Amino acid sequence: MRNMTVEGNAGERNNGAQTVRRAGLHVPVLEDEVLSFFEPAPGFRCLDATLGLGGHSEALLRKARDAGVPDVQVLGVDRDAESLALAQIRLEAFAPAVHFRHSLFSECAGALADLGWDGADFVLADLGVSSLQLDCPERGFSMKADAPPDMRMDRSRGKSAADLINSLSARDLRGIIRDCGEEPLAGRIAGAISTARDEGRIRSARDLAGVVAGAYPPGRRAAARRHPAVRTFQALRMTVNDELDELRRFLRAATGLLRPGGRLLVIAFHSLEDRTVKHFFREQADGCRCPRDAPVCSCGLTATLRILTGKPVRPGASETAVNRRAASARLRVAERLGA
Ligand SMILES: C[S@@+](CC[C@H](N)C(=O)[O-])C[C@H]1O[C@@H](n2cnc3c(N)ncnc32)[C@H](O)[C@@H]1O
Repeated sequence: MRNMTVEGNAGERNNGAQTVRRAGLHVPVLEDEVLSFFEPAPGFRCLDATLGLGGHSEALLRKARDAGVPDVQVLGVDRDAESLALAQIRLEAFAPAVHFRHSLFSECAGALADLGWDGADFVLADLGVSSLQLDCPERGFSMKADAPPDMRMDRSRGKSAADLINSLSARDLRGIIRDCGEEPLAGRIAGAISTARDEGRIRSARDLAGVVAGAYPPGRRAAARRHPAVRTFQALRMTVNDELDELRRFLRAATGLLRPGGRLLVIAFHSLEDRTVKHFFREQADGCRCPRDAPVCSCGLTATLRILTGKPVRPGASETAVNRRAASARLRVAERLGA
């Protein structure tokens, strides 16, 4: 188990604490709703698969502590080392009940095994990027950033969005923007990006956003409710971080880790993610995949999950009024079946 440590002298750590407080601007979404599915019992083992700034973990640990439930532990996983270091400062008051792991969430089974846990009672994934990542200009997630579009959640490995833009053909860019951004103007946008790139006009995320906006016909640009580059940025970010395949691998791994009665909660922020979670939950809740009129089951598959949220849970008006980022959040919850 690689427990993260926050490096640096006291002054730097103090800066870190201030950063956490500033980054505390990342308000955990649907916190009350998540807590309503958290019914801690002694010895509960929780996996926060997207620790981020530790907001949800803090809420879980506080609820368990306030309820006087002993020995509730949280394993916080994140692929972003910077977020982990800040979360570690935020959650200091709960040590030694919190463990940290720099890893992909699809590799959570190894992290649990390293702790000697034989399963988890509560697993949460709050997908996407944090405000810390979005608001840090040099990470190039934001359309306003005056830095190359990097967009890697883990800056220690992999290709950045700038690498993709500089290496892919217009045809491949079109496929990404169409499939991961569900962008109807993918062809025009990919063409505009590839021309601008060849002319050396994309030096920053802001330049990229401008090129995408310029590819929109003026009428559609004026009528759009969101910035015309939102879908293209989403598509590049999802590709850079392999987000949908990661999610599929995680859902399988997490279901395998849940103890009977354990709960899996996933908060999605766009329809591609939410659809992936919905279909996975349905598949696991249905079990047998034989044709309905088959006299006997020949597939041998049994249901592993019971769905607790028929429709996804959405934030209320009071939450979206104070946290715009929550507006597109959708929470789905399922419970592990078994004796
Ligand atoms: C929306 S933020 C989580 C915020 C957190 N719930 C809080 O309250 O502070 C999502 C976090 O998940 C991390 N993340 C996204 N995909 C991941 C993956 N495949 N494996 C591990 N971490 C991931 C991101 O780096 C980011 O820090």
